[in-house]
Amino acid sequence: MDTLPSELFARCVAASKRVRWDIEADVIRDRRFDPAHKFLPETLTLAGAVRFLSPAEKPYFSQVQGRTYANMFGLVERFIAAKVTELTRDHWFGDQVAFEALVRFTDEELKHQELFRRTESLIGEAMPAGYSFPWEPNAVAGAVLSKSSWAVLALTLHIELFSQLHYRESIREDNELSPLVRDIFRLHWVEESQHALLDELEWRRVDAGLDTEARDRAVDDFIDLLGALDGIIAAQADGDGAYFIQTCGRRLTSSEEGILRQTMLDAYRRQYIASGIRHPHFLAVLSSLTDQPQLARILRAAGVAPGAVRQAA
Ligand SMILES: [Fe+2]
Ligand SMILES: [Fe+2]
Repeated sequence: MDTLPSELFARCVAASKRVRWDIEADVIRDRRFDPAHKFLPETLTLAGAVRFLSPAEKPYFSQVQGRTYANMFGLVERFIAAKVTELTRDHWFGDQVAFEALVRFTDEELKHQELFRRTESLIGEAMPAGYSFPWEPNAVAGAVLSKSSWAVLALTLHIELFSQLHYRESIREDNELSPLVRDIFRLHWVEESQHALLDELEWRRVDAGLDTEARDRAVDDFIDLLGALDGIIAAQADGDGAYFIQTCGRRLTSSEEGILRQTMLDAYRRQYIASGIRHPHFLAVLSSLTDQPQLARILRAAGVAPGAVRQAA
């Protein structure tokens, strides 16, 4: 990062003002979800691995995953908004533009949570009963926020970079996606672009205040958070697999059920862990803030080969 933080905070404020949108007027626009449409592209759902799905079942496979995808953002934004609010304290009597940038960031994440609650209720109208997303956002946020700010910011940058990547490389490029889904993630993306920059600025600032021992403990915290995230997505993949099997309209063989459940888990691990940890910019920032043994520990815990770092460098 060669540009001064004060200038970057100012750019984030300007961009936040320029791109601001309204949930009903700009995103929903009186539309409903059409069950004929896909909700997520195959590059994210890995539907290509489930060869026995009929052309009519493929969109449904993407709808189950798309519903969880929206709910996952609503879930993580609870702790992101709380952490960013907490960080504003360090700017109260300092750079007022930095303070404003973080307040706007929090405001946007509160709006995004409302957008994803609205999305869940609209998707619920278009899909069969029986879907469950059992995570309580406050309980998850409480557990996450018990960890060090360094670790929470690492997890947050990871999430905000993969959300941008998914939009730019997959969602934006898929013309068969539901127009409403594309608008939700397009508008989410335009505000998220500032967030990733702010995460990085704050992560670097917090890091500068840590000694080697504290950073080592923060690395352990980050590994714990990645483990907790993996636990959530594995249980959600299991529940979503069972929901699909019960509601897809025909009896699958046990080997088909096994493939379907495994694909769901592989897709979620890729969506929520691998695509963020392997993101070239995430790896570049992480590598600049950790020593070799710390970096190796994180990558091992996330199931990422060290070669990914050399590719990113
Ligand atoms: Fe967001
Ligand atoms: Fe965000």
